[in-house]
Amino acid sequence: ARAGGGEGPLAGLRVLVSAGGTREPLDPVRFLGNRSSGRQGVAVAAAARDAGAEVVLAAAHLEVAPPAGVELVHAGSAEQLRRACVRAAARADVVVMAAAVADYRPARVAETKMKKTEDGSAPVLELVRNPDILRELVDLRNTARRRQLVVGFAAETGEAGTTPVEFGRQKLARKGCDLLAVNQVGEDLVFGQDTTALTVLSARGGDEQVLEGTKDEVARGLVDRIARELAAVPA
Ligand code: CTP
Ligand code: CA
Repeated sequence: ARAGGGEGPLAGLRVLVSAGGTREPLDPVRFLGNRSSGRQGVAVAAAARDAGAEVVLAAAHLEVAPPAGVELVHAGSAEQLRRACVRAAARADVVVMAAAVADYRPARVAETKMKKTEDGSAPVLELVRNPDILRELVDLRNTARRRQLVVGFAAETGEAGTTPVEFGRQKLARKGCDLLAVNQVGEDLVFGQDTTALTVLSARGGDEQVLEGTKDEVARGLVDRIARELAAVPA
């Protein structure tokens, strides 16, 4: 069976990619958001399509055009993205969580536009944790004993004593996914830029793979790696 109808290393496979940044509503006109452009996830979706896969792109506020030839599902908030991903993951052979999911959302969403207070005081926003979509997808995969490769992304800055890749190793273990693509971020690095560097870590151990270049080149490298990973694990 060829899901994508295409030729290539992912021919016949279904791939779910999430991309962009979620927006968590405060009221009908305001939200808490992040600086993800969606470029990297869109590039992965296009590379998977070019590798012959049938691609579902769960998109949260892209600043770039979605690629042609993929099924687009809009998901604005983390909760909407969670629902879209759980649904599409049920029939996916590969899941790539490239979206920047807000860790918190406002505890309450005002039904009408919030007005300034009369006395000049500023509001204090109460936040609650969002669900961890990646962990949930891994749990669902494990419970259903689905043969599915789950790939996470992590943007890390590193700290005194801990490198971004060390944080990535810890995150890979915590999330339970198969691959984690670690981006080193800082003021001028990665967000909205066209060139990038990714370090790919595998739960199976082994060497770190460094992918460098434009986001398209890096995406093609990641898709090649995914294809090799699938080939390495017997059905
Ligand atoms: N992710 C997710 N759901 C969330 C948060 C993150 O699915 N609520 C996914 C992202 O899409 C990404 C991976 O988890 O693939 C890592 O995201 P990251 O923000 O680096 O991880 P967190 O667990 O939120 O850790 P941190 O405290 O460093 O933000
Ligand atoms: Ca986070």
